[in-house]
Amino acid sequence: MKKLMAANWKMYKTQDEAKNTIKDLINILGTELTVDRDVLICPPYTSLKVVAEEIKDINYMYLGGQNFYPAKEGAYTGEISPHMLLDVGCSYALVGHSERRHIFCEKDELLKEKVKYGLEVGLNIIFCIGEKIEQRRAGQVDQVLKSQLSVLKDINNMSGIEDRLVIAYEPVWAIGTGEVAGEKEIFEAHKIVRDELKNIYGEVGNSIRILYGGSVKPDNASDIIGIDNVDGVLVGGASLHADSFSKIVTA
Ligand code: PGA
Repeated sequence: MKKLMAANWKMYKTQDEAKNTIKDLINILGTELTVDRDVLICPPYTSLKVVAEEIKDINYMYLGGQNFYPAKEGAYTGEISPHMLLDVGCSYALVGHSERRHIFCEKDELLKEKVKYGLEVGLNIIFCIGEKIEQRRAGQVDQVLKSQLSVLKDINNMSGIEDRLVIAYEPVWAIGTGEVAGEKEIFEAHKIVRDELKNIYGEVGNSIRILYGGSVKPDNASDIIGIDNVDGVLVGGASLHADSFSKIVTA
């Protein structure tokens, strides 16, 4: 399975900054990667177009949106549709990032609609899940992850789902904190996710990529992607600079 190395730029970078960062990244990594990996860049909406222009001839790089509203168009002030993301060159979008769940109060019902609608109209979806620190302390990791994944139970009749759906396990307490989950914690959580994907999708569940996210840095990336069932990473802070993100991509 080809590993997916994903950058989430969150609400950072003007168009010029985005353009400079992506140019620097391509300069460092080259037009062909020496490792067999996919690289995904999720800039803020305002920089999608400039990044799309820069990566259009780079066959290992993909463009993604950080969010969308599950409708084609309509009176949804402030929102963006999957069709608009596809139109600007995106092939992926994130759904359910912990900042969407916790700052913007997005609930399972809406997230289910987003995953379903996004897949139906042709986006690949990275569905983000992860427990809060108090849930981990209360021994609820298994329960929380299974419950978050349960939204997929109604989305199990799509062919080729293994190439279109990606799960990102991001423990909330490790996002942007510098506190990376330990190898044992990552191993256990990814095993729970893998088993649940097999419950929902049968054998196909073995081929769905599971990313780890939460304080991934150049010096821990190689150990993390070496863990069983870790099929790539979703990187916030360390993806903002070409220098650090390029080291993660090739770790
Ligand atoms: P971080 O963010 O790498 O800054 O912890 C990860 C994420 O939010 O996807």
